[in-house]
Amino acid sequence: MSAFSDPIALLDSAFRSATTAAFPDVGDTDPLITASKQAALGDFQANVAMSLSKRVGKPPREVAAAIVAKAGTNAELAQIAEPFTDKSIAGPGFINIRLKGDALAALLTSMDTQSLGVPAPQVKETIAVDLCGVNLAKQMHVGHLRATIIGDALARVYERLGHNVIRQNHLGDWGLPIAMVTAKVASDAKAGKVNLNTLKLDDLDRAYKQAQRECTADEDGLAAVEKFNLGPKARAELEEQVFGAREKLAAAKLTLVKLQSHDPEVFAVWERIAKITVDECVAVCARLHAIVRAEDTAGESSYSNELGEVVDDLVKRGIAVESDGALVVHLDGPDDLNDHGQKINEPCIIRKSDGGFLYATTDLAGIRRRVRKFGASRLVYAVDARQSLHFQQVFAAARKAGYAKMPNGQNAILRHAGFGMVLGDDGRPFKTRSGENVKLTDLIDQSHQRASVEVNRRSASLPESERDRIAEVVGVAAIKYADLANDRMKDYVFSFDRMVAFEGNTGPYLLYAFARIKSILRKAQAEKGLDTGANAPFRKAPLAIVQPQEKTLALAILRYPGALRSMADSCEPHRLCGFLYDLAGAYSSFYDACPVLNAEDEATMLSRLRLCDLTGRVLEDGLTTLGLPIVDRM
Ligand code: ARG
Repeated sequence: MSAFSDPIALLDSAFRSATTAAFPDVGDTDPLITASKQAALGDFQANVAMSLSKRVGKPPREVAAAIVAKAGTNAELAQIAEPFTDKSIAGPGFINIRLKGDALAALLTSMDTQSLGVPAPQVKETIAVDLCGVNLAKQMHVGHLRATIIGDALARVYERLGHNVIRQNHLGDWGLPIAMVTAKVASDAKAGKVNLNTLKLDDLDRAYKQAQRECTADEDGLAAVEKFNLGPKARAELEEQVFGAREKLAAAKLTLVKLQSHDPEVFAVWERIAKITVDECVAVCARLHAIVRAEDTAGESSYSNELGEVVDDLVKRGIAVESDGALVVHLDGPDDLNDHGQKINEPCIIRKSDGGFLYATTDLAGIRRRVRKFGASRLVYAVDARQSLHFQQVFAAARKAGYAKMPNGQNAILRHAGFGMVLGDDGRPFKTRSGENVKLTDLIDQSHQRASVEVNRRSASLPESERDRIAEVVGVAAIKYADLANDRMKDYVFSFDRMVAFEGNTGPYLLYAFARIKSILRKAQAEKGLDTGANAPFRKAPLAIVQPQEKTLALAILRYPGALRSMADSCEPHRLCGFLYDLAGAYSSFYDACPVLNAEDEATMLSRLRLCDLTGRVLEDGLTTLGLPIVDRM
């Protein structure tokens, strides 16, 4: 078989070479392969002759003839395309291409394996995927949705392609804000106001906010009282607030010191808070059908002992230097570029003038650990696009420090897979009516409820408990697909109505398409008495790709391995979503035009059943790779 399992890729490559061979002076030129506008003329057309005509100073039909003459000698092309004739060039200079049905059948047959045509990787990489990234003592809210499901989908696609994936939940569990809530919970527990054993994340969430408030002194207010002489009462109130807050802040700072030195009492409270947070996070991720387990937790605290060492190392080697009392890594050299090859300029601060470490310091230690200890050759960060500058600085600083260097001397690939915001109807960040962050559990519950309405209507004959299970799956798939199907970098408007619809480019539509295929297989067994088991004869039946809809479906299926690769290379799940949507559409046209169980003869029936089954397996594999849960019937 040729190196190409995707005929469209082969056409592109063959016509690209033919164009270069015919017109060596113009260099590499896109052959502009598109699906044919008129099925009677062919399956595909190459439109390059029209655009090239001016550049080479020849009439388009003449250009087309020159390209066809070269393409006609391509052996790989000859395997899948009908030979060219004088009718191959049409109109002003379109080159029509017709594929051989038996070539498509042969390609499909060789793809019809367990791996669905996905080869083992040439080099098995270790890839670290940074995902989820929640913060201690805070509920998972809609802000964590994308970091979790995009990160999980990327982790899954690398796993699917045969790589070794390490998921890293970079929990925000260290530093002053964490010490504030720890101090608060510790003192509340001492005063008997809370019970550490029965504490819930909701309580911690409240304690966190309260601690923030209590530690924030209204210094401006006090200054204003003095400036405008607002009277003794106002002054007394503000003084009480400010002194109280200063005291609380001092206590929190003390707690931070105790935390850092693992003082048993403080540390025990912190550990309890961490456990409650992680347990809840893991549970929510499980409901979201995202693989983020307790053992994937690599919180900021896990780096606390390494930060001093990292900073010393950078200072010793002159990579970090002092600037206004702080330590910085300058990023204004010719090699200090961001992902787009642009200069970064702003230095990366790794230690504040008060001696405190920063978010960036931990991320530098993270890169060092992921490359050196885990042996990762690729680090992918599914984190909000607003942190773009942070990552570009950290990546450049890590390269400068040699922390990204692999044993072979090359730098690991460092990639920020940033994403846009989830917006409400009003175009502002998605919030509850009272302006709070929307909790992920509430979001899942609501989606489940909305999906129930549609599932109950469509699947009235199924038992209630099954309908409920289906509705939960549909609800989760709806949320995830609506997110993943969007261009990652763009903001999107969250709309239950749109995402739970069974029509259009939605999760429920794809789940339904899959369930419909499963139901044909069930019907084949129930009504035709056909064996549909793992070794059923139809699975080896000769494929006949004859009808145009069969061809279109075959071409769609053959694009699958390429779609996975494209998502993996670009870190863009919407590419796989688009592929699956196209596949479902091609299947639906096929199903409308080509009877399966009532096909004209046995051989056609078996071939079409095999085509259904293969489509179903690709859908299942693709949906699973995106992290979507599925059901066999609905
Ligand atoms: N906890 C961080 C936040 O809420 C996200 C962590 C992302 N990962 C990282 N390695 N910095 O913004």
